Amino acid sequence: MAPIYDLILKGATVVNHDGAVERDIGVTGGRIAELGDLSQASAAEVVACRGLHILPGVIDTQVHFREPGMTHKEDLESGSRSAVMGGVTAVFEMPNTNPLTITAEAMASKVAAGHHRMHCDFAFFIGGTRENAQSLPELERLPGCAGVKVFMGSSTGSLLVEDDEGLDSILKVIRRRASFHSEDEYRLNERKDLRIPGDPRSHPVWRDEVTALRSTERLVRSARKYGARVHVLHITTAQEMDFLKEHKDVASVEVTPHHLTLFAPDCYERLGTLAQMNPPVRDAVHKAGIWRGVEQGIVDVLGSDHAPHTLEEKAKEYPASPSGMTGVQTLVPLMLDHVNAGRLSLARFVDLSSAGPARLFGIARKGRIAVGYDADLTIVDLKRRETIRNDWVASRAGWTPYDGVAVTGWPVGTVLRGRRVMWNGELVTPGQGEAVRFMETLGAC
Ligand code: DOR
Repeated sequence: MAPIYDLILKGATVVNHDGAVERDIGVTGGRIAELGDLSQASAAEVVACRGLHILPGVIDTQVHFREPGMTHKEDLESGSRSAVMGGVTAVFEMPNTNPLTITAEAMASKVAAGHHRMHCDFAFFIGGTRENAQSLPELERLPGCAGVKVFMGSSTGSLLVEDDEGLDSILKVIRRRASFHSEDEYRLNERKDLRIPGDPRSHPVWRDEVTALRSTERLVRSARKYGARVHVLHITTAQEMDFLKEHKDVASVEVTPHHLTLFAPDCYERLGTLAQMNPPVRDAVHKAGIWRGVEQGIVDVLGSDHAPHTLEEKAKEYPASPSGMTGVQTLVPLMLDHVNAGRLSLARFVDLSSAGPARLFGIARKGRIAVGYDADLTIVDLKRRETIRNDWVASRAGWTPYDGVAVTGWPVGTVLRGRRVMWNGELVTPGQGEAVRFMETLGAC
């Protein structure tokens, strides 16, 4: 008798670790059960996918969803809706909420708030502080925890460990890979006067490349001292890329679609404070430097750094305007456009957005299309031309810096553990998100 699957996705080009090959995918119980020719098989649901590409579900390892405390900007439901509308199947969310995510209670409450309410799977970072450093070995192992996140320079919220002693106290005790916002707080304070009221073009002048490089050098020095693994978030300078290529044993590297797409001064002239983020978007030379990091394999993952603020907040005069822009929903379309423009291969995109996150963070059963893995899939039409619009953005913030930008390549389906969540631009299944499981802490789940 022919096997019966829950779902068969038929005839797509499946992009994976073994190349891009036309094959069917059979799903049972939320997991991939068979890859190959399933023309003789039956299923409860058969979806024709000819002409489409199926990628392993895109995992966005850096988003800010603002719950608890700033839910007028976003919450776990709206942020994750934005994620699946953009083809993202899992997110790692940041601890600069209010209250901060720095205790076991705060972590448990976020996991409970996300369970079967978020539309994609999720994990949360625990904020590292001087005060909780001694407890981090337990905190980083909590169910649903993606690891420790440290802000070395201040940004939105009050998390900050600016000094080497504080940094050492954390790196000395933790065991998992920890993630860092790397900007040198001392230099940021010294240079505050360089901010020109009303002129966000002065943002990258204030938060200059030395601010980023100095902090990243300090971080790597400290990581070496303790044999710790550090993940340097949103790299923005050519100099850091050159430095980090010498330290790939201890340091992993993230870049964002914003820093690969926008550049100064153009972005500030066109978008004003909408382009303001930390670390800042810099000039074309730095943009070329981080693209080189992508080409040369120095970059491990892409994170959107989705950091929503309302348009009203963004309309404040610089520097009172908050830093951050939406991004979780535009990650896939923007990067597919870069693929179509020949800036990276589709295989490298999959490496950066699925295999890379799985490898760095040791995600259990995700990041690859293989039998036994979760059936998390990002289905894309590589040739579809679309224009990104504010009214397409499901984030509560309701805007994107790419409003009006035409792209080639579009997410048309998001499948989470075997269920279609987004299909042709519509949300088709209510929230069924669950905590991501990590190999290093399987016992905790
Ligand atoms: O621009 C930013 N916004 N960078 C950060 O590091 C934080 C983020 C936010 O939470 O608004």
